[in-house]
Amino acid sequence: MPTQTEIDDADRQAREWRFSDPAPLIIGSDAHRDAACLMFRETFNPYRPSVIDWPKLDPDELKRLTSLPIWDIAVSTEDKASARMNAYGDTATDPAWREAILRNGWEERRHREVLANLVTSYGIALQPQPPDTLPADPEWGYLVTGYSECIDSFFAFGLFELARRSGYFPTALVETFEPVIQEEARHILLFANWLAWHRKRLNAWRRVRFELRVARAWIFLAWERVGLAAGMDQPDNNFTMNGSQAVSNTDISPLDLMAICLRENDRRFAGYDSRLLRPTTTPALARYAVRMGELYRRGRALMFKRDFQARQ
Ligand SMILES: [Fe+2]
Ligand SMILES: [Fe+2]
Repeated sequence: MPTQTEIDDADRQAREWRFSDPAPLIIGSDAHRDAACLMFRETFNPYRPSVIDWPKLDPDELKRLTSLPIWDIAVSTEDKASARMNAYGDTATDPAWREAILRNGWEERRHREVLANLVTSYGIALQPQPPDTLPADPEWGYLVTGYSECIDSFFAFGLFELARRSGYFPTALVETFEPVIQEEARHILLFANWLAWHRKRLNAWRRVRFELRVARAWIFLAWERVGLAAGMDQPDNNFTMNGSQAVSNTDISPLDLMAICLRENDRRFAGYDSRLLRPTTTPALARYAVRMGELYRRGRALMFKRDFQARQ
């Protein structure tokens, strides 16, 4: 068994990392690939989230936890992510990316084990899931999984912080999940850099094909999420919407939640070498939404003020 000091040291190392070569990092270069893959290897945490002492919950806490509508989708998402990452990793010809992506697949499997453990420990009943079918094209599977993680992790960062602040769940339980959330930040950091490196290495024709595929992945994910939000699919799949109501007893607007997600997103990436690229699309869309929301609020306040002055 590792000592508490060893566990704490590994936890810190998983959050802070600098590339030893001080030269500017050219995106698409061998050094860029080495930095991204080395970051992933050196921030690997061998202990957490495997070292788990599930805390005892009082009846109210247990009810809140078991009634969270996320367990089925969470377990099957980890399963699918692991299978797709391993499938792409197996086909990757570059040994550095191969090792990093297979490690990512292994970590998803570990997340699955942690969740399965929690589900069993607290007596949560999982619904049987339809059998998973891997996409015929492993690169497509990895692209969709990577982008999907970029969206879901961004919201998970905010929801997790909301759960932490609300005190709705015991601190020990929140702390148990902390390394899982940080690992998701590492995963999307790796994906963002693989994506940028991969793009730079393609010739013009392959690049066009790849960009069309990226656009198709975004359309697929947007359609999936619009479908979920409209209730056209299983309501249980609507992780973000159900999650925000279930992790906190305070009333929070979607824009305020997004502002928390943005702050948490910046905080979780702050410890990694700033020359590595961060995922940008979901934070940019959220930033835009928050700005628009602010303008709308200010506009309304001004209108009320003018209306009030006109009546005086
Ligand atoms: Fe995961
Ligand atoms: Fe992940």
